[in-house]
Amino acid sequence: MNILGIETSCDETAVGVLKAEKTKAGFFIKPLSSVISSQIKIHKKYGGVVPMLASREHAKNIPIVTQKAIIQAFGSKKDISKIDLITITKGPGLILSLLIGVNFAKTLAWSLKKPIIGINHLEGHLFSFLLPKINKNYQLLNADNKKIFPAICLLVSGGHTQLIYIKKFGDYKIIGETRDDAAGECFDKGARILGLDYPGGPAIANQALKYKDQLQAFSLPRPMINSQDYDFSFSGLKTALLYLAQEIDFKKKEKQLRPILSHELQEAITDVLVKKTIKAALEFKAKSIILTGGVSANQRLREKFKETLEKKKVNNINFLTPLLEYTTDNAIMIALAGFFQYLNGSEKKSWDWKKFQAEANLRL
Ligand code: KG4
Ligand code: ZN
Repeated sequence: MNILGIETSCDETAVGVLKAEKTKAGFFIKPLSSVISSQIKIHKKYGGVVPMLASREHAKNIPIVTQKAIIQAFGSKKDISKIDLITITKGPGLILSLLIGVNFAKTLAWSLKKPIIGINHLEGHLFSFLLPKINKNYQLLNADNKKIFPAICLLVSGGHTQLIYIKKFGDYKIIGETRDDAAGECFDKGARILGLDYPGGPAIANQALKYKDQLQAFSLPRPMINSQDYDFSFSGLKTALLYLAQEIDFKKKEKQLRPILSHELQEAITDVLVKKTIKAALEFKAKSIILTGGVSANQRLREKFKETLEKKKVNNINFLTPLLEYTTDNAIMIALAGFFQYLNGSEKKSWDWKKFQAEANLRL
């Protein structure tokens, strides 16, 4: 079947087509197209996403992005009739942005007379590690399931930092989450303190690459790293960076200090994420650790997971993380989550546009 995915929960207007089948051997999936119109340039000058501007851009771009995704997948815009199922992010996210996507997708479902499923954005991130490159096939053998689940997933994005125990598709338990800022938010706010552009994650990571074991060492706290629970807290870390920057007169030596402070901020965030996730994976006897969400694009975080698992001689836990193009928001991950939901509830036959609405505060 051909599944159309649509995603407008934050500042990316994304549409894609996923070909997906269930056979006796397992699942076959093949992404046919993935078009993303990023609004980064628009929000950059404000240092973060401005909700009103985001929804205006979504409204402007969504028909164009959809047409491009259909042409890329099938060759002609008329081939939209080849779509068998429409999937749309219904939440969580910015309500005005969600509403643009949800209303557009519902109208499409109504006019094409196709089933439609509202998807939890976070569920999209959870399974994005399964996605192959555009036009490449991927076969998930049923046996692979036993190697993946139960899994511990660290979902780290601009809005979320959660540790999730996944028993199987659709069966999730949040075992810990941030009590204040998300990890991505800490990168973004840290970047602003250091005079770097939005989004802060890639900017901090680039600066940290310039750091070469300088003698001048400044240390930031690793909040809640040894707490007994699986919760996180990043708001104090951002404040600690702000005070440190003031104390050492950052503004006067920006060029020299930026790589040092970026490196230390990245080390502090990744230390906490890695330690708590591995602890949870061992305690819950997980077969895999799934690292996902925008912050999973961070190379240092990926390396640190691999290094720590090796150092601890943990070789019975698979480390799974998406291809870079699927770490940040995209529509193919929404289509994939939609496919699994469709299989799970296929007895429902008709997935109706009247049955769901946008929910800004949706939980897993
Ligand atoms: O998943 P995502 O695209 O959107 C949300 O659902 O929030 O995640 C965006 C977040 C931003 O906070 C951004 O700074 C962060 O992911 N990010 C990174 C990197 N690339 C994106 N953080 C650290 N290192 C990166 N390379
Ligand atoms: Zn996201």
